[in-house]
Amino acid sequence: MYHPEGPTFLELMRQALASTERGYDLIAPKFDYTPFRTPDAVLEAMVTAIGEPSSIASALDVCCGTGAAMGHLRSLCRDRVVGLDFSEGMLAEAKRRLEGSKGTAAIDLVRGDALALPFRAEFDVVTSVGAFGHIEPRDEDAFIAGIARALRPGGRFVFATGEMPPVTSQWWWVARSFNAVMRVRNALLKPEFIMYYLTFLWPDVRSLLERHGFRVEAKHGLCAAPYERAIIVVATRP
Ligand SMILES: C[S@@+](CC[C@H](N)C(=O)[O-])C[C@H]1O[C@@H](n2cnc3c(N)ncnc32)[C@H](O)[C@@H]1O
Repeated sequence: MYHPEGPTFLELMRQALASTERGYDLIAPKFDYTPFRTPDAVLEAMVTAIGEPSSIASALDVCCGTGAAMGHLRSLCRDRVVGLDFSEGMLAEAKRRLEGSKGTAAIDLVRGDALALPFRAEFDVVTSVGAFGHIEPRDEDAFIAGIARALRPGGRFVFATGEMPPVTSQWWWVARSFNAVMRVRNALLKPEFIMYYLTFLWPDVRSLLERHGFRVEAKHGLCAAPYERAIIVVATRP
């Protein structure tokens, strides 16, 4: 549909009719040929906001998927880079794709739930990209609390987001229509496929992070075209 090696329309429909976890298992080998993989331009901006090569000991990428962010984070880390995801298929793909990636830090792939992170004060940096649509508003506090727990004091949660598009824009209508279809799908069909657009947007996400004790900074203009409107948020744990 998006690329000759990517999933067909039918395969994407099958994904949306499965649970979130199973849906990603189904498309894992073709995921990197979809526009849902975070683009390198955004990942490069995120890494620039974090720092120089080997400047941190360890990083965690939550909802790592096929390891797109981990490939960039590895060279920043001296010791280890950890990716967590609940889809076994996506983790298998990450393992394959990260072989020979730049850097010497150990790579750990952990199967787990982003809403129940099993880490305590272990990381200098936690990232999460392209996955906030899978976090329901009612779960946002559990998600951020787990990230805060996983960070060492002074550690940073770094991610990319954007602002709400104007109601006059095509994207606003596409996103709202998609969300409405998913609400109906999830009301009628179990298990649910959790995926909603226009979540974790700047500046709303600031108050969520501040409620969890983070000091929050937004960096504009770091991403290359056509993603120049993306915002890199750096939230620091005191
Ligand atoms: C759109 S993909 C993004 C992958 C990657 N971060 C990227 O940007 O290319 C979303 C990922 O989040 C994972 N995911 C969704 N909900 C999750 C949860 N509650 N716990 C762990 N992983 C989850 C999915 O399995 C999938 O791999």
